[in-house]
Amino acid sequence: MRFFLYAIARFPLFHWLRWLSIVLTYKYRFRGQKLYISWACVVKNCRFGYSNHISEQSILTNVDVGDFSYIGARSHLNNVTIGKFSSIAPNVKAGLGTHPSRGFISSHPAFYAPSYGLVEKQAFEEYHQTTIGNDVWIGANSTLVDGVTIGDGAIIGAHAVVTKDIPPYAVAVGVPAKIIRYRFSEAEIKRLQAQAWWDKPLSWIKAHAEQMQHASEYLRTVAAPERQESTPKA
Ligand SMILES: CC(C)(COP(=O)(O)OP(=O)(O)OC[C@H]1O[C@@H](n2cnc3c(N)ncnc32)[C@H](O)[C@@H]1OP(=O)(O)O)[C@@H](O)C(=O)NCCC(=O)NCCS
Repeated sequence: MRFFLYAIARFPLFHWLRWLSIVLTYKYRFRGQKLYISWACVVKNCRFGYSNHISEQSILTNVDVGDFSYIGARSHLNNVTIGKFSSIAPNVKAGLGTHPSRGFISSHPAFYAPSYGLVEKQAFEEYHQTTIGNDVWIGANSTLVDGVTIGDGAIIGAHAVVTKDIPPYAVAVGVPAKIIRYRFSEAEIKRLQAQAWWDKPLSWIKAHAEQMQHASEYLRTVAAPERQESTPKA
């Protein structure tokens, strides 16, 4: 009987109906916000900002997505907060959970999760909140280990495994991810973070979008120290 129900639930029509109900529910809930959820995505308990694009076959649970951030195809994210203007490439995994690697005889969940029937109380915290800042770029096929924080403006190279927090504007690559450089000087990073251009009104961002294509000029003029207080935030 159980197998029969399982087989019915796996029928393509049910997948299609599930996807349709997800898209319609979220399109309605976030109407007017230019939300695009592509084919075969599964979205549960998520919040979206303005102009988000979720590419096909991505699975998102408990994810907060800031304005203009997008998620590439076949990404799988749980318990993740994503800032504004962040780019998540295809096949990125974050918040998939963790098992004990110390202190327990076995790493198998049967010894800490009651659902297997061997223990009565949850004895290990499997999931932790992962944070991705604003203007972050996560390269394709990267994995973020549960609970890490990726600072504003950071770049994570393709195929990285991020096991520790990555500071703002660092470029980190490899397994485990190591910082190879910073995108700007320490003083410039401080200025960009204080300016937090991603929180400014859209009209401000639009007016400065082309200047942002020329980093040194932008840092010398728009994000110059003497201008830090004069630009309004949203
Ligand atoms: C990390 C990245 C952004 C390049 O950053 P960069 O600071 O310009 O780095 P460089 O190209 O100057 O490379 C610096 C060094 O890091 C190495 N490197 C670059 N990317 C790497 C990666 N993903 N993994 C491991 N090493 C990498 C380079 O080989 C080079 O090594 P070397 O100093 O021994 O020659 C880029 O390589 C990358 O991974 N981009 C993601 C692409 C992607 O996933 N696209 C999906 C579309 S959203």
